[in-house]
Amino acid sequence: MCEPTHYRIAYEINPWMRRANAVQTERANAQWRGLRETLSALGLEVELVEQERDTPDMTFTANAGIAVGERFIPANFRFPERQREEAHFTRWFEEQGYRIEAIHEPHFWEGEGDVLPGDGVVFAGYRFRTEYRALDHVDELLGCETVRLELTDPRFYHLDTCLAPLGGGRALFYPAAFTTDARAALEQHVGTLIAVSEHDAGRFACNAVLAGETVVLNTGCAQTVRTLRDHGFAVVETPMDEFIKAGGSAKCLLLTLDAFTDAAGRERP
Ligand code: ARG
Repeated sequence: MCEPTHYRIAYEINPWMRRANAVQTERANAQWRGLRETLSALGLEVELVEQERDTPDMTFTANAGIAVGERFIPANFRFPERQREEAHFTRWFEEQGYRIEAIHEPHFWEGEGDVLPGDGVVFAGYRFRTEYRALDHVDELLGCETVRLELTDPRFYHLDTCLAPLGGGRALFYPAAFTTDARAALEQHVGTLIAVSEHDAGRFACNAVLAGETVVLNTGCAQTVRTLRDHGFAVVETPMDEFIKAGGSAKCLLLTLDAFTDAAGRERP
């Protein structure tokens, strides 16, 4: 995770961002700390990278890349506004002892924002940020074929804004964010697909973090919370609206260091 020390709305690269809609710094810090404490209390171990002044979105660490065993595959950010983050994140992973394996340029892709492990498969969203072509190389580096899901709604521009795999063959998703083919692929690979309403999707219900059998998400998603409880999950709601101003919520604020097992069985350094 990355404490939002220099977080602000400095540009507009998705439909949520409005420079006029300034971040309330104190609230943002408190919401971020609340999330961090929630995750720690649920038993997740949190490591920190420091935010650099010139990278206001760096707090959304999900987009840095993916960690695969002892390798780190850094993102190629689509917008120049975020490309400066690449060097900062890469330095952190180098310092931790990861081997850096970059994908072919100039293809864009944005890390765990668009590439999410499910049960025995890896889902990959493309169109608004990640390019289809980039995923061919991601597949090579992962040693598996990602299940490609085309996104349709610019408000749900990263896969993690409209899909949350929850283990045990279950996932939350917002159907209208996917093409017909993508929905069919999801149906094929996910036993229990839990659809969220447009209202809850707009409050980033799908940008949820799973910790054991507990789902952590933004407040104000009552219907999703009820459905999750019906499916046997515990739910923690934590306010994230200062981050939704930039188009992100709970899941965007972390990168999972042990999400991908290395095909060769190598573990993280
Ligand atoms: N402002 C950031 C962007 O538009 C938000 C990133 C949200 N991250 C995510 N994984 N969905 O790039």
